[in-house]
Amino acid sequence: MTRPLLFLGLESSCDDTAAAVVRVSDARAEILSSTVAGQVALHAAYGGVVPEIAARAHAERLDLCVETALAEAGIGLEALDGVAVTAGPGLIGGVMSGVMCAKGIAAGAGLPLIGVNHLAGHALTPRLTDGLDFPYLLLLVSGGHCQFLLVHGPEKFTRLGGTIDDAPGEAFDKTAKLLGLPQPGGPAVETEAASGDPKAFAFPRPLLDRPGCDMSFSGLKTALLRARDAEVTAHGGLRRQARRDLCAGFQAAVTDVLAEKSRRALRDYLALNPVKPAFAVAGGVAANKAIRARLETVAAEFGAEFTAPPLRLCTDNAAMIAFAGIERFRTGARDGMDLTARPRWPLDQTAPGMLGSGKKGAKA
Ligand code: KG4
Ligand code: ZN
Repeated sequence: MTRPLLFLGLESSCDDTAAAVVRVSDARAEILSSTVAGQVALHAAYGGVVPEIAARAHAERLDLCVETALAEAGIGLEALDGVAVTAGPGLIGGVMSGVMCAKGIAAGAGLPLIGVNHLAGHALTPRLTDGLDFPYLLLLVSGGHCQFLLVHGPEKFTRLGGTIDDAPGEAFDKTAKLLGLPQPGGPAVETEAASGDPKAFAFPRPLLDRPGCDMSFSGLKTALLRARDAEVTAHGGLRRQARRDLCAGFQAAVTDVLAEKSRRALRDYLALNPVKPAFAVAGGVAANKAIRARLETVAAEFGAEFTAPPLRLCTDNAAMIAFAGIERFRTGARDGMDLTARPRWPLDQTAPGMLGSGKKGAKA
């Protein structure tokens, strides 16, 4: 039996300042606290995340988030076995704020420091929530990323394919913007789509005719813009039902593409003959109920267990960072005071670079 490990995790790579305390023992992983201070209101007037405003807000709020996380867990720094922090990829100012804060805590309390790849945090979440065994297939689908990964170990990932332009979350956000819905767009578009007709407007299913797991979502946004403009011209404005139908059509197109590409990724994954086949989905877009339900059906077609983290662990949080830190720590990894913030940091270093990583850049 190995000793239980208690880690503080910090996350500040985009527009959520977060701190969490996680304990992992042989039997299970437990989130003792997880606090997230979002910045939606700070960026609302600008139509997107402003890196300088984000970095300043992280710097101002990290201390308080850490205090809250420790208080909610009912522990002091002396009880911890280490501090894990997102060291990239992400908006560099925010990542630096987190790394500096973690270094200060590690140095002051004499604790080991572990830098974590934010994407690994998302990718390892199914082990935190459902104890999945390696190797499993993961679809990481968020505001800045969309990729299929074979997860072989805490630091061993093979990228099977991904978006060549926008990420689906980004496409949801743009759709919301074009239709006058609030940000972040995903939840707003999902709500509208629930009472819309997905067949009222024809949307393309990009790259389905090409082999492999690569995807493209930027054409959907253009199709949506055209359909909206045609509606406005024909009716002198966007009627309420048309907006719902546009949302439903857009969401159905994204869902179809993700489902078909998941089938291809599952075929590649099952060729590895995993003992307990499992398909997990993580990242902000995994919060979408229609997408989750369809992917669950696809997993069942292939006899794979399907896992999607609870919504609060799909979006950015520090519990996933603390957990990924513990996973790295257990492999013997340690970082020093020379740990640097990395704006770009692919999980699979051997995979060819993505053609496009979305307008949000390194947002994950
Ligand atoms: O993982 P995440 O919190 O942040 C990063 O991208 O790192 O994902 C946020 C993205 C946003 O683009 C948001 O619109 C999308 O996830 N999202 C959703 C839903 N909830 C959040 N997209 C579709 N449906 C949802 N219910
Ligand atoms: Zn993320």
